[in-house]
Amino acid sequence: VLAQDKFKIGLILPMTGQQASTGRQIEAAARLYMAQNGDTVAGKKIELIIKDDAATPDQTKRLAQELVVNEKVNVLGGFGVTPAALAAAPIATQSKTPLVVMAAATSSITEASPYIVRTSFTLPQVSVSLADWAPKNGIKKVVTLVSDYGPGIDAEKYFKDRLTFNGGQVVEQLRVPLRSPDFAPFLQKVRDIKPDALFVFVPSGAGAAVMKQFLERGLDKAGIKLIATGDVTDDDQLNDMGDGALGVVTSHHYSAAHPSAMNKKFVEAFEKANKGMRPNFMAVGGYDGMRVIYEALKATKGQGGGDALLAAMKGQIFESPRGKIFIDAQTRDIVQDVYLRKVERKNGQLYNVEFDVIKDVKDPGKAK
Ligand code: DHB
Repeated sequence: VLAQDKFKIGLILPMTGQQASTGRQIEAAARLYMAQNGDTVAGKKIELIIKDDAATPDQTKRLAQELVVNEKVNVLGGFGVTPAALAAAPIATQSKTPLVVMAAATSSITEASPYIVRTSFTLPQVSVSLADWAPKNGIKKVVTLVSDYGPGIDAEKYFKDRLTFNGGQVVEQLRVPLRSPDFAPFLQKVRDIKPDALFVFVPSGAGAAVMKQFLERGLDKAGIKLIATGDVTDDDQLNDMGDGALGVVTSHHYSAAHPSAMNKKFVEAFEKANKGMRPNFMAVGGYDGMRVIYEALKATKGQGGGDALLAAMKGQIFESPRGKIFIDAQTRDIVQDVYLRKVERKNGQLYNVEFDVIKDVKDPGKAK
C-alpha cells in the first residue's frame, strides 16, 4: 500500500501500569470496530498504531510527537488519563492533527486545543445527576472522597454545588493521591463522621479496592451508603466485587446492561472477541471514537487534511451502545444521556441496572 493510500490512526494508551485496564478495553474496542466495519474507508487502508504511555504525561508527549513527525498519523486518539490528554494537546494544535479523547474526563480538556474532540464523558456531566437523586432519597449529609487530580476535583465540586443547591450538605471533602492510593485512613475518618452517604470518584481500575475497604471497615453496617460515579462500579471489575456491591447507586453514561438492541450486540461481540471480557465505559469511548474517525474520513472522501477531518467530526449524531450521542460542534465535547443505576444480580452476574435517565446532558463545565 502506497503511503498516500494509507490512513493512520495513532492511539496512545496506558497498556501497562495502574491504568492498564483502560488501555486493554480501548484497544479491544478499536479492533472490534475495525473488524466489524472493515479496514478500507474512502479508498484508504486504515492502519491502527498503538503506543503505550503507561499514563505518564512526559511519555505521552514524546509518543504524540513521534506519531505526528515520524509516522505522519492522520489522527491521534486514546488518552487514558487527563494529564496524558493535556500533554498531547499542544502537539495536536501545532500539527493541526485531530485528537480524539476516548477516556479522559476532566471538563477542561476540550479547551486545551481546538483540535480535541471527546467521545468519553465529563465528571461534571455525570456527577450532578447523582446530587439531584440523593436528597430525594434520604441522603442529606455527605462526605466526598475523590482522587486528587482533574476529574476528582471536577466530581467533588459539581457534586457539592448541586447537592448544596438541593438543600443537602457536604460535611467533609477528602482527596486521596492518584498513585498507589491507601483508602483505609480516609474511610476510617468517614466512619467517625458517620454521614448519610459517602460519594466517591476514583478512576477506572481503582473501584474494587474502594469497595473492598468500604466493606472491610464496616461502613455499610454503620449505616453509611456508598454512592459514586460509575467509574467505581466499573464493568471491568464489578463481577469480582461480590455481593457487598449489591444496591450501590451510581450515575454514569454507560452500563454493559444498557437494554438496547445495539448494546446487546456490542456486548456479545466484544465478549466473544475477548475471551469473555465484559466491555466497560472505556471500551465504549474507544468504539465510538473509531466511529467518529471513520465517518469523518468518509465525509471528506479520503481527501481531507486535519482541518477538514476535524470539521467532519464536529456535529456528528449517532446511536452508540450507550444510547444516542452528539458531538457538540461548538465545544467539541460529547452530549449524552446520563443514567442512574443500581448494582443488581442478573443471570448470576453483577450489573449496573439502569433505573432512571436524564436525556441529552451537556457538560455543565461548559455552561459558563
Ligand atoms: C479519568 C480516568 C479514568 O480512569 C476515569 O474513570 C475517569 C477520568 C481521567 O484521568 O480523566
